[in-house]
Amino acid sequence: MRILLAGATGTLGTALLPMLVAAGHELLGVTRTAAGAARLTSMGVLPVQADVMDVEDLLAALDGRQVDAVIHQATAITGVPLFHRNLYATDALRDHGTANLLRAAAAVGARRFVTQSFFLGYGYRDHGTEPLGEDHPFAELTGHPGIDRHMRAMRSNEDQVLHAPGIEGIALRYGMFYGPEPATRRLMHLAKRRLLPALRPSGTTSVIHIHDAAAATMAALDSGRPGQPYNIVDDQPVTFTDYFRAVADVVGASPPRTVPGHLLAVLPYLHALMVRTHIRLSNHRAKRELGWTPDFPTHRAGLAAVANG
Ligand SMILES: NC(=O)c1ccc[n+]([C@@H]2O[C@H](COP(=O)([O-])OP(=O)(O)OC[C@H]3O[C@@H](n4cnc5c(N)ncnc54)[C@H](OP(=O)(O)O)[C@@H]3O)[C@@H](O)[C@H]2O)c1
Repeated sequence: MRILLAGATGTLGTALLPMLVAAGHELLGVTRTAAGAARLTSMGVLPVQADVMDVEDLLAALDGRQVDAVIHQATAITGVPLFHRNLYATDALRDHGTANLLRAAAAVGARRFVTQSFFLGYGYRDHGTEPLGEDHPFAELTGHPGIDRHMRAMRSNEDQVLHAPGIEGIALRYGMFYGPEPATRRLMHLAKRRLLPALRPSGTTSVIHIHDAAAATMAALDSGRPGQPYNIVDDQPVTFTDYFRAVADVVGASPPRTVPGHLLAVLPYLHALMVRTHIRLSNHRAKRELGWTPDFPTHRAGLAAVANG
């Protein structure tokens, strides 16, 4: 297939590109920068230098191209989001960015479209102990302006892609990424300096190693059912406290010190995520329909691989 990948230079794109090339696909990678274009060229990928937020720019850069599938992995998450405003640019990429990429897909004749969605679309709250499947309500409004802005964007992204006429649309609700990438390495660095907290109380989350997220994306491109979302998470939800303990353990650091969770209240986004939210996702549909299983079924296995890599 000939595939247009937006976000080709990002964390997931970087893991995904070599897998797609090894599977024999021909790749076009979107990037805004000359440096990104040079990097993509060196990997045998045809660069499409354009801003996804500027539809005329995007269509002009694609002029005359024909493509079979589009994968949208563009985000603007430059670090750990502390405040709701840190996600506004990513919200825009999930709303207008998705609309523009769908217009581009129509222009280049693409029939298949895989988009990056996010497990926190199920809501930043306590979901109890049962793992959530894809039929659970997604991106419901809460009345909280900060959170609702993200919910509207996640809803817009999925609605546009899953219901686009003439397009086989698939949404991948990835868990929290970790792997051989800067954010995870930063956590390991903090753990060595004993600066990661053992939060009490602590929220619960679902994570996915970046390699497994990329492999699931490949599988969804081939076998995903049009109109369906898939949870892409590992087999073992984890509290942030246990996750940070595992980070410390795999790098040989002392266990994190206990910190009252309410101290995070000054960082509203982080507090909502790491203290108030308990969310466990089921990956059964992805395993059953995509024929995918994570190589790193637990965060412990994946973190050990990162530390030893
Ligand atoms: N599920 C999750 O937990 C999750 C999801 C996403 C990200 N993250 C985390 O956030 C951090 C950064 O992630 P990342 O590597 O994906 O982000 P990144 O390094 O900022 O990369 C984002 C990608 O999106 C592209 N992009 C952004 N805005 C664009 C625009 N307007 N037009 C065209 N392309 C655009 C960038 O392309 P150019 O810069 O080349 O133009 C780049 O390829 C990582 O630690 C990652 O793990 C986590």
